[in-house]
Amino acid sequence: MATPAQTPVAAVRLPLRPDLAGLTPYGAPQLDVPVLLNVNENPYPPSEAVVADITAAVADAARGLNRYPDRDFPRLRSELAEYLQVESGVSLAPEQVWAANGSNEVMLHLLQAFGGPGRTVLSFAPTYSMYPEYARDTLTGWVAGRREPDFTVDVDHAREQIAAHRPAVILLASPNNPTGTALPLQTVEAICAAAATGGPAAEDGAATAAVVVVDEAYGEFRRAGTPSALALLDRHPHLAVARTMSKAFGMAGLRLGYLAAAPALVDHLRVVRLPYHLSALTQAAALAALSHRDELMAQVASLRAERDALVTWLREHGLRVADSDANFVLFGVFDDRRAVWDGLLARGVLIREVGPEGWLRVSVGTPAETAAFRAALEEVLCW
Ligand SMILES: Cc1ncc(COP(=O)(O)O)c(C=O)c1O
Repeated sequence: MATPAQTPVAAVRLPLRPDLAGLTPYGAPQLDVPVLLNVNENPYPPSEAVVADITAAVADAARGLNRYPDRDFPRLRSELAEYLQVESGVSLAPEQVWAANGSNEVMLHLLQAFGGPGRTVLSFAPTYSMYPEYARDTLTGWVAGRREPDFTVDVDHAREQIAAHRPAVILLASPNNPTGTALPLQTVEAICAAAATGGPAAEDGAATAAVVVVDEAYGEFRRAGTPSALALLDRHPHLAVARTMSKAFGMAGLRLGYLAAAPALVDHLRVVRLPYHLSALTQAAALAALSHRDELMAQVASLRAERDALVTWLREHGLRVADSDANFVLFGVFDDRRAVWDGLLARGVLIREVGPEGWLRVSVGTPAETAAFRAALEEVLCW
């Protein structure tokens, strides 16, 4: 029997989507240096008591790993609803909560359900650099309106952008990354009002809403008096508020993000999720971590205080610093920000070169880490 002709391995060309040609994967450099202040993690590892409970819960779940996990994870949704009620005073039913492997995946579900070819996602830059990637990966058009010099969003500008682009989804990070800026509730409300009939036309020509996503990944770090957009949920069926266990909970390695929205909106996300997307081990570990929420959240107040002290110190030294409701601070403005970033790295402190030209972002660490950052910056800037 004749052997089929083989194409030489080197000549095989993969059918990569043309719009992905030459692109590199997203991600900050993961360097091995003593002081890591570059990806807005919580600097405090879980206590041994938390580790022991997670270990026991995961071991228990491992005994049932021959079975697929619960697809709809009602217990986890119920615990997350209860946590949100305690944290923000807004009462939610478990059916209003959805979760996935990080809030990145939760937001991808939103784009999979509501975006797509011929549709647009609108945001306001500078903002979280993954947003255009969700758009790209779901073949959704990407439009970035502008943020003001203080990094808030002007309501009239937002209304104009909605009218011009009829977006299917509007992504509002609040507190925003990389600037730390929280949006006033009035801004979110005005955008929700404009979005109620501001989405793409339905097949029958009727107006639809744009889904407004308030990404509160850093919500727990907000300053006193800054309310959560969760308070608006009962009035806006097209609003979703995304949260994560990666930041305030100090569980970035767990990969557990979630959102709250009207049950009908959540039901649409259940259509696009992969079957059994949330592993039994993740569900078990998340439930165990949530049972320790008071302890895990104990550091939030000290991180907030540390952040406020850092903002004051940078300003006292004559730098511009964006107001921050998050666990990081955007500061500048430098003629050569790369030189400052390099100088800090040479002294063992890794921060992030991100945001508008001339600015740098530093995450709030432990008091010792923040002190190391200050000492290094003093040297680099010859203060
Ligand atoms: C604004 C914002 N949203 C969402 C995320 C994603 O968080 P995770 O996928 O870990 O929940 C991040 C991570 O840095 C972020 O900065």
